[in-house]
Parts: sequence; structure tokens; C-alpha cells
Amino acid sequence: MEYKTLSVEGSQFGDEGKGKITDYIASHADVVCRYQGGNNAGHSIEIDGVRHALRSLPSGIYEKGVLNVIANGVVVNPFAILEEIEENFKGREKDLRLAISDRAHLILPYHIQLDGAYEDLMGKNKIGTTHKGIGPCYSDKAKRIGIRVGDLLDKDYLHERLETALGVNNKVLVGLGKESVDIEKLYSDLLVVAERLRPYITDTSVLLNEAIDAGKKVVFEGAQGSLLDLDHGTYPFVTSSSPTSVSIPVNAGIAPYKVQRVLAIMKSYMTRVGEGPMPSEQDNEWGNAIRERGHEYGTVTKRPRRVGYLDLVLLGYTSRITGVTDLAVTLFDVLEGVENLKICVDYSLDGKIIDYVPASAKTYAHCKPIYKEFKTIPHFEHRKIHSFGDLPIEAKEYLGFIKDRLGADIAILSLGAEREDTVTFKELF
Ligand code: IMO
Ligand code: MG
Repeated sequence: MEYKTLSVEGSQFGDEGKGKITDYIASHADVVCRYQGGNNAGHSIEIDGVRHALRSLPSGIYEKGVLNVIANGVVVNPFAILEEIEENFKGREKDLRLAISDRAHLILPYHIQLDGAYEDLMGKNKIGTTHKGIGPCYSDKAKRIGIRVGDLLDKDYLHERLETALGVNNKVLVGLGKESVDIEKLYSDLLVVAERLRPYITDTSVLLNEAIDAGKKVVFEGAQGSLLDLDHGTYPFVTSSSPTSVSIPVNAGIAPYKVQRVLAIMKSYMTRVGEGPMPSEQDNEWGNAIRERGHEYGTVTKRPRRVGYLDLVLLGYTSRITGVTDLAVTLFDVLEGVENLKICVDYSLDGKIIDYVPASAKTYAHCKPIYKEFKTIPHFEHRKIHSFGDLPIEAKEYLGFIKDRLGADIAILSLGAEREDTVTFKELF
């Protein structure tokens, strides 16, 4: 059977413009599902000139008729998500079609404290996390001391789970010289948020499977990017979840054969926030100019993003791991008129040319990029572009090279912030 499902995921280090593309795709979808990460994600969507920032809520929330699902693999900060709902839906919560998995884990205040404390302890080896408590929450899940969204609805069990979690985490906090958490205060705060979240909590695997089996169009929206994947990314400089199509089955409770198409969102150049190797980084005037033109500052932490030339060794790696079938190229307008345009095609490592990503971050840091140069892409009128053939020859050369090297079609090209600036070359649903 052919299913109408689509994985939409970042293929770099996050911030590829996933929100905008998912929002665009969501207007044709029936369901949009977040399956990993938490409010470390920062999606900005521009609708009628107004910028909306989403962190935990799926990108389909502005589409009437779309069901938005937060699946079991997501980590949910109950206080933050209520704030986000209020910011976006004040006075019209009834318009929000949201389902949150009873199996998703809760990010609680002590996870945030621990996130900061661990980063401080690591000093110069820190990861540069978003300080949202993501790593400690996923660690608790693996340690079997996590608290799940569904636990909020059983008062006695919630108290028991808090006793277990704080039995361990309070000792850790005190050991790190931090204040311990008052269990009764947190418990009573959680009872309040539980009532507000109650209408949304359900077994989302049931909803997703019903929708998929009924032939509905279901979009799986990845947060972060493949290169931040806990297993396949540039470990240890990664996030604590798997932001790729390969993790959707376990993180959403569906069978692997139900995810058949993978749309990789890729920026026309590279950016990275936080620490970790980035061979094509341009910490110079070229990089600074792109940062300003592309507004490359974090949505969540406002940190300036590191900027570099497009790296097709990394994207080839992503493509192999996640099974990319189609590409959405974003922020292409940022490259217009830019001189010294290059793409990294290989690395040199200790005098040898290699086309793979070494597992060790230490070895990877020694890889030097080898570039292919491209002609400057002239300014062109965006709204006249309806097909690949309408693009200037220099743009076709740059994009054609990417397409051939990655063996995937360019389905979508984004040329600006508004929905009208996104051109579809290939229908995905
Ligand atoms: P979106 O969804 C860019 C990075 C952090 C850090 C590492 C680990 O906007 O693409 P974490 O707080 O997750 O433990 O931090 O991952 N990171 C992101 N970088 N965009 C994101 O999300 C990110 N989420 C996490 O900067 O290097
Ligand atoms: Mg971001």
C-alpha cells in the first residue's frame, strides 16, 4: 500500500528553515506530527508579514483543519508549552487541534538546572546546549526515572514518580552545589498544569495509525537537523534525540514501512550554533555578510550562528543515513550577488582526500575542506520563477550540482520569507 506520509527534516545542523517549509506543506496536509526534541527547537513562520515563533507546537497549528500531534518521542516542558499555547491562541484555544502523547516525557525545572550545571562542569569542553533541559530529560528517560505526560493525570502515581525522580536528582543537584527541588511545591504546580493539558493528552500512536491507514496526508516534522543526531551526528556535539526519518517509527509508534518519502530541508550554505567541528566555517567577512543577509541569529537563544560554505560531504552523509528522496533548498535568495561562491566537495585529512565524515570529533576537526568554485548568482525576479528552467544559468549550475551529487530531486526552492516566495517544482502529496 502506498501511504501519504512525508518526513520533513533538517539535513544540516538545524535552522534550515524547516518551519516555513513545513508550514507551507501543512497547508496541504491533514496531520502534522512532531516526534522528537523539545523546546530547543525554534521555528519561525511568517504569515501575512507577521513572524510567529514556535518551539514545541507543530508547524501546522495555524492551518484550520490540521490535526497537530506531539508524539511519544518528544520531550515536553508543561509550563513552557502552556505559555506557547497562550501566546499563540489566547482566547481562542478551541481553535487549537492538538494531541499530546501520554508517553512523551516531561521536562521539569530540575532538568533545566542540571543542563546548566553539566555545561558549567564541562567548561571548555561544553556542548553549547540551548539550556532547555533536553539532555537531562532524555537521560532520565533512559535511566527509567522519567515522568511522562500521562502520569500527570494520576495524582497518586505522579507523586510516586516525583519521589523516585527527585530521590536521585536532588542528590545530584546537592552534589553539584545547587539547591534541591521541593517536591510538594513542584507537585502542586504540576496538578495545576495537568488540568490545563488534560484535553490534549491521549495515545497519539492510535491517532497517527488511524490517519495513515485512512490515506490521510501525514507530515512528520523533524526538529534540529541530521548532523545533530545523537547516533549519527557529530558526537558529542549533538542533541539528545534523533531528528531523522529513521527514528520516526519508534518515536511516533508507527511501522517503519509507513514512512516512504523523505524531504530534506537544506540551507544554500551551512550554519551551526553551539560547539563542534564545521570544516567549511567562514569566520570572516564572507561569513559575516551571509549572517546579516540571512538573519542568522538563533530563534531560541539569539546566539549568532556560525556560517560556512555549503558542505556536500556532510549532506551526502545525511542523505545516506536518512534516505532522502527530495530536497527543499532554502534561503537561496541570500546567495544572490554573493562573490566567491564555493561548495565543499571533499576533505583532505593528513594528506589524503576523503569523502566521508570521520566518527571522532577530534579527527573530524583536522579535516580541511576542498572546494569547487561557482559563478556569482545574479539578482533575479523571484515571482517569475515557476520551474527549474526559469532560473538564471548560474543558479541552475549551483543547484544542479547539489541535485546530481545527492541524487535527489529539488522539489521546493525558497526565495524569501513569505509563503509566495516558496516555489514548488514537484508536488509531494
Ligand atoms: P531547530 O529546530 C540549531 C544545538 C545546540 C547545541 C546542541 C545540543 O531550530 O533547528 P540541546 O539544547 O539540544 O541539548 O543542545 O544542539 N541545537 C540546535 N541548533 N537549531 C536547533 O533547533 C537546535 N536544537 C539544538 O546549539 O549545539
Ligand atoms: Mg533553531
